[in-house]
Amino acid sequence: MDILVTGGAGYIGSHTCLELLQAGYKVTVLDNLSNSSEESLRRVQELTGKTLTFVKGDIRDRALLDKLFADNDFNSVVHFAGLKAVGESCQMPLEYYDNNVYGTVNLCMAMRDAGVKRLVFSSSATVYGDPASLPITEDFPLSATNPYGRSKLIIEDILRDLFASDEEWSIALLRYFNPVGAHESGMIGEDPNDIPNNLMPYITQVAIGKLQQLSVFGGDYPTKDGTGVRDYIHVVDLSIGHVRAIERLQGHKGVHPWNLGVGNGYSVLEMVEAFRSETEQQVPYKIVDRRSGDIAACYANPEKARTELNWQAERTLDDMVRDAWRWQSNNPNGYGHN
Ligand code: NAD
Ligand code: UD1
Repeated sequence: MDILVTGGAGYIGSHTCLELLQAGYKVTVLDNLSNSSEESLRRVQELTGKTLTFVKGDIRDRALLDKLFADNDFNSVVHFAGLKAVGESCQMPLEYYDNNVYGTVNLCMAMRDAGVKRLVFSSSATVYGDPASLPITEDFPLSATNPYGRSKLIIEDILRDLFASDEEWSIALLRYFNPVGAHESGMIGEDPNDIPNNLMPYITQVAIGKLQQLSVFGGDYPTKDGTGVRDYIHVVDLSIGHVRAIERLQGHKGVHPWNLGVGNGYSVLEMVEAFRSETEQQVPYKIVDRRSGDIAACYANPEKARTELNWQAERTLDDMVRDAWRWQSNNPNGYGHN
């Protein structure tokens, strides 16, 4: 079965391509490499011993999309392509709406015209805003507090409108919690362009000596130890969730939101301690002011994905930190020259 993967050279996309190839799918990746390197896909092919097709291009290029759909017989599209940095989205909201919202509309128009109506979309737990209670189920109210989050919410709304207009569509809204870790081979992983915004890559870069110390954003949250609590999920578990979603969409029309999380919350200090104990690397840290826009705690109720997708996260917190560290220590400069 042929699958188009937009943004497939990126962090979650490359891990998902690996799972798709291993599951026997034929994979075509469309990526403009704005935040990734083709090296990730070379390694995916090396790891699986299978080949995929890579097309360098942009989801906003309608002529290119039309040609791709005409030349292939895609069954489904897995759509990762987009910009994802919250802070940057506040500085350049138009670029975020252009890439994420316009790009997705363009992709859906090409899909509609080609008669391909199965889509797996990368949404985010950010669409729940600051939840009134925990754990979060898919029927919680949705809101956005920054342009990145709003782009995800707008896309979800567009996809709901699309299904209302044409009930032939099967759409998965995969709401990721906090993806971390790397493939256990240590050959593919997260390769942030600049100083990382997210906790896990920041921790690994402190441990390897690229950054001096971790700033823990806030020590006075109403949580177990005062630091922020999140639902960290191993990127391989998350990727397997995409394969299950594709399977489920065959024969299940509709717009289906699924939380992809573990269902446990860990604090920042628990993450630092898990990293130290698993890798024996020290991570000097200092508690500083809260980061604007952060919430105290966020974790999933993943029951709907468990029952409907027959999926649940299998990997432990120790697996997450160990695999993140293996990737970082084997590839101190990511996909650049080591
Ligand atoms: P990533 O930046 O590693 O991957 C995104 C990929 O899309 C990159 O390879 C980039 O080059 C490509 N891309 C961007 N704009 C494009 C365009 N216009 N045309 C073609 N390709 C384009 O990010 P990721 O962490 O792998 O995230 C994948 C998706 O999951 C994103 O949509 C992101 O918003 C979403 N998401 C990520 C997280 C997370 O913590 N990583 C959490 C929730 C949701
Ligand atoms: C962030 C985004 C969210 C996005 C998600 C996945 C913000 C406000 N939110 O979520 O929209 O969907 O990434 O890409 O950016 N922390 C530190 N020090 C650091 C980095 C993080 O203490 O240097 C803390 C944070 O305060 C938080 C936890 O670690 O409590 C996790 O942070 P992070 O990895 O950035 O993810 P989120 O904030 O959950």
